[in-house]
Amino acid sequence: NNYCVIMAGGVGSRFWPMSTQKYPKQFQDILGTGHTMIQQTYNRISKIVIPENIYVITSKEYIALTEQQLPELNPENIVGEPMMKNTAACNMYMAKKIADKNPNANIIVLPADHLILNETVFLQKIELALNLAATKNFLITLGIKPTRPETGYGYIQFEENKDKEYFKVKTFTEKPDLEFARTFLESGDFLWNAGIFIWNVQSILSAFEEYLSEMSQHFQSCDYNTKEEEGCIDAIYPKVAKISIDNGILEKAKNVYVIPADIGWSDLGTWTSVYENAVKDAEKNASKSRHLLTYNAKGNIINLKNKNKAVIIDGLKDYIIVDTDKALLICPRANDQLIKEYVQDLKTLK
Ligand code: GDD
Ligand code: MG
Repeated sequence: NNYCVIMAGGVGSRFWPMSTQKYPKQFQDILGTGHTMIQQTYNRISKIVIPENIYVITSKEYIALTEQQLPELNPENIVGEPMMKNTAACNMYMAKKIADKNPNANIIVLPADHLILNETVFLQKIELALNLAATKNFLITLGIKPTRPETGYGYIQFEENKDKEYFKVKTFTEKPDLEFARTFLESGDFLWNAGIFIWNVQSILSAFEEYLSEMSQHFQSCDYNTKEEEGCIDAIYPKVAKISIDNGILEKAKNVYVIPADIGWSDLGTWTSVYENAVKDAEKNASKSRHLLTYNAKGNIINLKNKNKAVIIDGLKDYIIVDTDKALLICPRANDQLIKEYVQDLKTLK
C-alpha cells in the first residue's frame, strides 16, 4: 500500500544562475556526488517503495529529462503538468490518481532536491510515519532542528510528549518574515518543516475537500488512469488555484503531526544552504576554483563554471558570486531569497 510521489516541477529560481528554466537544479549534480538530486531522491526511497509505486510529478517540459535520468521508472509513472500551480495542485492530482488505483494507499511526498546525509535514520522515520498514516487520520511531516533564522521554510510548534516519537502540531507558519524567524529560532520550541509528507490518501483527500474545496471540485471531474486523464487535466489546470500545500493545507489542518528527524537534512534551495554544506577555507570562503585569490574577503560562496578563470576578490564579505557561460551573479548572502524576484525582473530586460 505504500506509494511515493517525487515533486520535481520547480524551476529553482532562488538558485539562479546555476539552476535555470531549461535545466532546473533537481536535474543537476549540485554537490558533485555523481548523481543528480532527483536520482539521489529516487535511489533513497526505492529501498522501501517498489518502483511501480514511485511517481514523479513535474512540468511536461521536464518529462524527457526525468525519463533520461530515471530510466528504471515506468514512463507511465512520470506525470506531466501543463503549467506550474505550486505544490497543492500537484499533490491533489497525484492523490486522485493514486486513490483510483488503490484507495488504501499511503503516500510519501518527497521534494526532488533535498540533501539527506543520514539515510538510515531517514528511512526509519519514514517507516514510523507510514505505520501511523496507515491507521490514523494524520497528516505527517518530518521536522528538522533549525540552525538559522531562514525565512524560506515553514516553522512548526508542537505539543511536547516525552513518551512519543511523534507530536501533534500546534502551529504551522509558512515562510515567516525575518523577525518572526529569529523569534522562533531563539525560543527553541520550533522545528523546520522538511517538506517531506506522509499521509493516507483518504486523509489528504478529506483535507483538500475541507480547505481547498474549489480545487477539490475541479479534480473530481477527471477519469484517472484512462486516456481521458491528460486532456481533462489540461482543461482544469488553468482554473485551479496557485498555492502551496503548506499555505493551503498544513497551516490550516487540525490533524498535522510532526516527527522530529535528525537526518542530516538540507534543502539545497538557496545559495546559503549550499554554502552551509560546502567545504570552506580558513577565511570561510567556499569555492572550488583553482585560480582564485582573495584579500580581506570572508564568508563568500564563489561558484565559477570555468574553474581555470583567474579571479581576484578584495573586500567582499558574505557574498554570493556565481559565474556561468551565460550569467554573472553578485549578491549579498542575506538576500538569497530575493534572487527569485531578480530572475523575474530579468525577463523585463531586452
Ligand atoms: N510538480 C510540481 N509542480 N512540483 C513543484 C511545483 C509545481 O508546481 N512547485 C514546486 N515543486 C517542487 C519543487 O521542485 C520542490 O521539489 C518541491 O516541490 C518544494 O517546492 P519549493 O518551491 O522548493 O518549496 P520551498 O522550498 O519554497 O518550501 C517548501 O519546502 C521547505 C523545506 O525545503 C515548504 O514545504 C516549506 O514549508 C519547507 O520548509
Ligand atoms: Mg525547496
